[in-house]
Amino acid sequence: MHVYVILAHPSGRSFSRSVFEAFTRGLSDAGHSFEVGDLYAMGFRSEMDETQYLREISGNPDLPCLPTSRRAGEDQPLRCPCVYLPPLVERLSAKLKGWFDRVLTCGYAYLYDTSGARKTRMSVRKALVICSTGHTAEHLEATGVVESMRRVMIQDRLLGIGVKEAHLEILGGMMPLDDSHREENLRRAYELGRGF
Ligand SMILES: Cc1cc2nc3c(=O)[nH]c(=O)nc-3n(C[C@H](O)[C@H](O)[C@H](O)COP(=O)(O)O)c2cc1C
Repeated sequence: MHVYVILAHPSGRSFSRSVFEAFTRGLSDAGHSFEVGDLYAMGFRSEMDETQYLREISGNPDLPCLPTSRRAGEDQPLRCPCVYLPPLVERLSAKLKGWFDRVLTCGYAYLYDTSGARKTRMSVRKALVICSTGHTAEHLEATGVVESMRRVMIQDRLLGIGVKEAHLEILGGMMPLDDSHREENLRRAYELGRGF
């Protein structure tokens, strides 16, 4: 299986980078190939401009998407069978939010049919969102934060536009200066890659 891994973190010294390395090691050990879309490295522009805004509200899916600033690789994930998306925090990093806004667009990633239902144009079969958080996963489940992420990111933004299978994985307890959950989280990231 060929997996497209989106990295949306500004620092190579972050825990998220270690998660990325553990996850991709697991992918390789399982015999998967992968490529990386590092949104910071590729200079991905997260803000939509007026041209794209007007296109989005035009109701005309045949108008070109990302008209003024598409760069090589920005749209690559939609042609891969799988995609993995790590946001920086539960609130979704601006880069990744921009990727959702500017790449997963009507006319490009999906269309509406006459009944108003979305029809996918992507070949993505499976997506996994791995999110490292300062709070524990239990705390974020109890406060409803994880449920809100699942509804918006997994159900609406991924399953809702035709990804066949999508999951959210929280690697929690990563408060600054607290390494007590680090090893178990990295083991989990590796297993997620290996079992993908
Ligand atoms: C700007 C910013 C906002 C954050 N907001 C939250 C938050 O709302 N909830 C949470 O549990 N952790 C939050 N965190 C903590 C990060 O999720 C935690 O530091 C991260 O898992 C460690 O990963 P990193 O080294 O890859 O940044 C935030 C971190 C940053 C930098």
